Amino acid sequence: MPRAGPQPEQSGPQQRHVPVLLAGVLAALEPRDGALFIDGTFGAGGYTRALLQSAQCRVLAIDQDPTAIVAGILLQSEFSDRLILRRGRFGALDVMAVEAGMAAVDGVVLDIGVSSMQLDVAERGFSFQADGPLDMRMAAQGPTAADILNGAREETIADILFHLGEERRSRAIARAVVARRTRQPFARTLDLADVVSRVLGGRSIEGRHPATRTFQALRIFVNDELGELARGLGAAERALKPGGRLAVVTFHSLEDRIVKRFLAGRAGRSPGQSRHLPQAAERGPRPSFRIVNSKPLTPSKAEIEANPRARSARLRVAERLDASALPLDMAALGVPPLDA
Ligand SMILES: C[S@@+](CC[C@H](N)C(=O)[O-])C[C@H]1O[C@@H](n2cnc3c(N)ncnc32)[C@H](O)[C@@H]1O
Repeated sequence: MPRAGPQPEQSGPQQRHVPVLLAGVLAALEPRDGALFIDGTFGAGGYTRALLQSAQCRVLAIDQDPTAIVAGILLQSEFSDRLILRRGRFGALDVMAVEAGMAAVDGVVLDIGVSSMQLDVAERGFSFQADGPLDMRMAAQGPTAADILNGAREETIADILFHLGEERRSRAIARAVVARRTRQPFARTLDLADVVSRVLGGRSIEGRHPATRTFQALRIFVNDELGELARGLGAAERALKPGGRLAVVTFHSLEDRIVKRFLAGRAGRSPGQSRHLPQAAERGPRPSFRIVNSKPLTPSKAEIEANPRARSARLRVAERLDASALPLDMAALGVPPLDA
């Protein structure tokens, strides 16, 4: 999840984000002249650039991080009005598309999670190995991770760690967080890493730092990543024209499960149901998507060697059919109802 691989020992020079499963994403979206695409997670612009270089198409590129948008202005000068760059959240990509004059699009890509630029800059507060303010906000607005830890109830903190980090010792960590904040509020990443390490006995878990799960959970919560993913899928359903393609890259089973459930529901089958069985859709609404690859595409050994952060990536692809878009059911998608 944080692009989940090894973290840098310290905040070094900013690393450029390497696009993950790029060939698979391009094959899924089939860029061609005149086509309209939405890249809902612009980041360093890896997918957007590749799309714009592959054909005379147009891309609406969205990112909630103001620094990604500022850095993207260079790309804007290269591709002129074929690139429309907007700051915003992909949960509203359909509305943003209409505002940009794109009523129906040929492809949407979402590359879920944080970018290398966000992860590697200590001041963004995502890293448990580099000291920085305990921030973790991709959009640079709203409550920070420190605000959550210093203000939320103990049970809420435990629920966040359990549901979003799959942390088995969530209650013990939440208790230690509350004990520590009554003495001194949390402000820095290493304060939190230290508290978690003490609770878990300092042992690395499956070769990972003991605070990995706690940081992951807080990051997902601060940015409402699972809620946004679900809203983004619904927005893509509304924005795509029949025949248009949706490509989603995830890095964690919590995210992949949401994509899988959404597509299974929209394709008229419940997860796990064979596509050779008579369509459940006959009893429900008409399918609005056709699943293109029922098994997600994963990176090759060579890609993982070249970019270890790609190691847990999964790409799911579906094609929009002509049935109307349906309302979202967050609970059915497995988005935990957490509120600080
Ligand atoms: C994994 S990076 C994308 C990298 C990109 N595909 C590339 O090749 O450079 C994810 C990006 O999505 C952005 N992001 C995450 N959630 C978002 C949301 N709900 N709305 C808009 N942008 C989001 C992050 O700020 C980050 O820049």
